[in-house]
Amino acid sequence: MSTTPPRRAAITAVGHYLPEERLTNGDLEEMVETNDEWIRTRTGIRERRILGDDGKATAFMATEAAQEALDKRGLAPEDVDTIVVATVTPDMLFPATACLVQDNLGANNAWGFDLSAACSGFLYALTTGAKFVESGQSDTVLVIGADKMSSIVDYTDRTTCILFGDGAGAVVLEADEEAGLVDSVHHVDGEHSDLLCMRGGGSLHPPTHETVDAGMHFLNQEGRQVFKFAVTRMADVCVEVMERNDLTADDVQYLVPHQANQRIIDATAQRMGLDEEKVMVNIDRYGNTTAATIPLCLYDWEDELSAGDGLILTAFGGGFTWGASYLTWAYDGGQ
Ligand code: UT7
Repeated sequence: MSTTPPRRAAITAVGHYLPEERLTNGDLEEMVETNDEWIRTRTGIRERRILGDDGKATAFMATEAAQEALDKRGLAPEDVDTIVVATVTPDMLFPATACLVQDNLGANNAWGFDLSAACSGFLYALTTGAKFVESGQSDTVLVIGADKMSSIVDYTDRTTCILFGDGAGAVVLEADEEAGLVDSVHHVDGEHSDLLCMRGGGSLHPPTHETVDAGMHFLNQEGRQVFKFAVTRMADVCVEVMERNDLTADDVQYLVPHQANQRIIDATAQRMGLDEEKVMVNIDRYGNTTAATIPLCLYDWEDELSAGDGLILTAFGGGFTWGASYLTWAYDGGQ
């Protein structure tokens, strides 16, 4: 009896964009009442990148990251079928950032859309993009995580302004018979939506002088409460994915965690039984870039990865949204 090989969605290239400008802990000491030691020990962050205010925004970073991924894979923009952009800082509420990226790239055969899942955005977009490949609906999908967090951060609020940075990461998804996304678990829990949100600017509180005066167009977070949920939910969902797929720590070459807080990452790795060297961490250099953290990690570690490596990607963010995905890597690093 002949069996049809699986049509998995594999990551075949990774691109990135990081602005040149650095915002260090020392810079923040000049802006709010904080200090380098507090930021490093509570979060692991030393500096973040800031895009600045010269007319460039999320679509620009997303385009740069996507173009780099296509170039690395030797693909033309016309080869792209589908573009999924995860972001909470779209250039505009509409049109979707995916439309702007499509136009910037000249991806004339593509359709696309944005996906809003805060810090879990890339993970959700990866699962979504993979479905188009697995079903045969698309052959080449761009999955992009991009956020200009500096556009919604209040730089007078020391509890949030130390956390976030700007950046973008993009992956190409293509069909593969062996490597690719194997399993994903995702959750939402809207009961706690008020703990991490941006209140103003939407249809509930359209922008007015009053909403702006009240700072409702800034990201708002109850950090300590969010931490409690993040630290347990992220570890739980990673263990759930390991159990569902009969994985031991030896089967996992790398954990690719959302970069919100070093302590959350450490606790997750510990629950999974993973040593430090198996955990991708770049929060020290980029802070929390929301939808971009996971692809930026993949970009930084790409040279270390080998075909067949088992990776668990995980995230937790506003909504709440959270999840974990298990995938096998498709190519040897440095290719
Ligand atoms: O990515 C999406 C999901 N988000 C997350 O996963 C973030 C989760 N939360 C966190 O990472 C942490 O809660 C924070 C890093 C945001 C805060 O760390 P914490 O250990 O939870 O600190 P805390 O909020 O409990 O504050 C401890 C103290 C407070 O002072 P008192 O009340 O003990 O006197 C704060 O006022 O630290 C104070 N504090 C600061 N001190 C210096 C708060 N922010 C700062 C600051 N510099 N920037």
